Amino acid sequence: MVLLGIMPIFTFALGTWQLKRLKWKINLIDELEEKLQLQPLYLPSNVNLSVIPEFVFRKVLIKGRYDHAHTMLLSPRVREGVHGVHVVTPLIRDNGTTVLIDRGFVSNDFVSSINSEEENGEVEVLGMLRTSQARNTFTPDNNPEKGEWYWTDVEKMAETAGGKAANVQPVFIEQILEGHAGDANTKLSKGIPVGRAPTIDLRNAHLSYVITWYSLSAFTALMFFRVFLNKRMSPGRRMPRFN
Ligand SMILES: *[C@@H]1O[C@H](CO)[C@@H](O)[C@H](O)[C@H]1NC(C)=O
Ligand SMILES: *[C@@H]1O[C@H](CO)[C@@H](O)[C@H](O)[C@H]1NC(C)=O
Repeated sequence: MVLLGIMPIFTFALGTWQLKRLKWKINLIDELEEKLQLQPLYLPSNVNLSVIPEFVFRKVLIKGRYDHAHTMLLSPRVREGVHGVHVVTPLIRDNGTTVLIDRGFVSNDFVSSINSEEENGEVEVLGMLRTSQARNTFTPDNNPEKGEWYWTDVEKMAETAGGKAANVQPVFIEQILEGHAGDANTKLSKGIPVGRAPTIDLRNAHLSYVITWYSLSAFTALMFFRVFLNKRMSPGRRMPRFN
């Protein structure tokens, strides 16, 4: 009975806590979307790593030449139902450090023959600054020795690209696709990496948690009252009769 009485209160508190998290998440996404609207900034020649968190999701411009020999493939990735990989290549800057560019998606048909024709000389990349991804329980561990990458581990990728000795900084930029769906399809059919859309892709599951906890609270409250009423009306609990 006590447990049944506590349940509605407990689940209600959890629902309220998730509601707070939901508000926080919505604010965060709004903030990032505003940041994304700002003019792209040129990436400094030497990036101050401690300020990266403030600049996540900012659009950046960067010039250099790709170091194709150190390309790393993030797999498996899916784009509009097509299976493939993301192509990560270090970009060497004449007057600055080398950073990592996620050039985008290539379908499995082109994995062994990624088309880099247009990207052999100096290129200017428009991208979005990102950090390492949180791995979930189902993500296998990366195996850099075998060239197997499942999640973005910026530190490890920078190391694999040559690390400090080769002037590589753990800075990760996702290339943005400028243009429309037709441009993306042309690139896809030629095996040229297709960059991402400039959008905020944060997960926001808090609303479903709010609904779940509040529903549970209402349900257990109902249970509590039914049991409570049953007990009061049950024959064993009736007042003794005196006639
Ligand atoms: C990097 O940025 C932090 C915070 O703004 C600052 O305290 C630090 O001195 C900077 N480091 C360098 C090497 O500029
Ligand atoms: C790099 O620096 C040199 C000398 O400071 C300059 O002449 C050159 O234009 C710079 N290159 C780029 C790509 O900024």
